[in-house]
Amino acid sequence: MPSTTGGDLMQKSHQIEHPISDLIRNRKSPRAFSQAPIEADKIRSLFEATRWAPSSTNEQPWVYIYATRDQTELWDKLFTCLNDSNKIWAKDAPLLILSLARKNFTRFPGANAHAMYDLGGANSFLSLQAVELGLQVRQMAGFQYQKTIEQLNIPDTYEVGVFIAVGYAGNPDALPENLKLRELAPRERILQHEFVMNHTF
Ligand SMILES: Cc1cc2nc3c(=O)[nH]c(=O)nc-3n(C[C@H](O)[C@H](O)[C@H](O)COP(=O)(O)O)c2cc1C
Repeated sequence: MPSTTGGDLMQKSHQIEHPISDLIRNRKSPRAFSQAPIEADKIRSLFEATRWAPSSTNEQPWVYIYATRDQTELWDKLFTCLNDSNKIWAKDAPLLILSLARKNFTRFPGANAHAMYDLGGANSFLSLQAVELGLQVRQMAGFQYQKTIEQLNIPDTYEVGVFIAVGYAGNPDALPENLKLRELAPRERILQHEFVMNHTF
């Protein structure tokens, strides 16, 4: 039975306990980014991966606004929406992306209750494709919601998801000390028996 006593008391480990795909094994969310630009064909591959994500009724509700570092005006519009705690490291990311979801179905009347679920799935596909391309991704929920809507002129028919920083690996020594320590700390995960059940609650 999963623990009902809260996250701190759940059992965790730093190990991969069972075999997994190399793409999943090698994915992580570093904050240290090189300022090296990303090749245009690699950017297209990232978004191509999202095309092939599953979605409810195959609606594909995800929408992305991206800017490369050299597209100063648009990159700055995205960057300025981030919380200060993310700006500290995202300033070096050569590619910033805002992920959004269409709230309503295009082929049926009404709201798509699974739009955000599908957007998360598509973002995971993008994150794994990044590993394949030798890139790293860090998603960010730390941003100013209303400012994002104003800066990017987002219509009411779209829900804002997360920002995504993408780039090549940078040097953790370039991070502030507290972030460097977190960057180099072993990653920890809750054990399967805390969240996988083969029985009812
Ligand atoms: C929806 C979502 C929001 C996140 N928001 C932030 C954020 O605002 N700032 C940040 O530094 N990391 C953020 N992260 C990264 C997580 O902290 C990170 O994925 C988690 O610590 C697990 O580490 P890993 O991705 O290296 O396995 C976010 C990740 C997700 C999926």
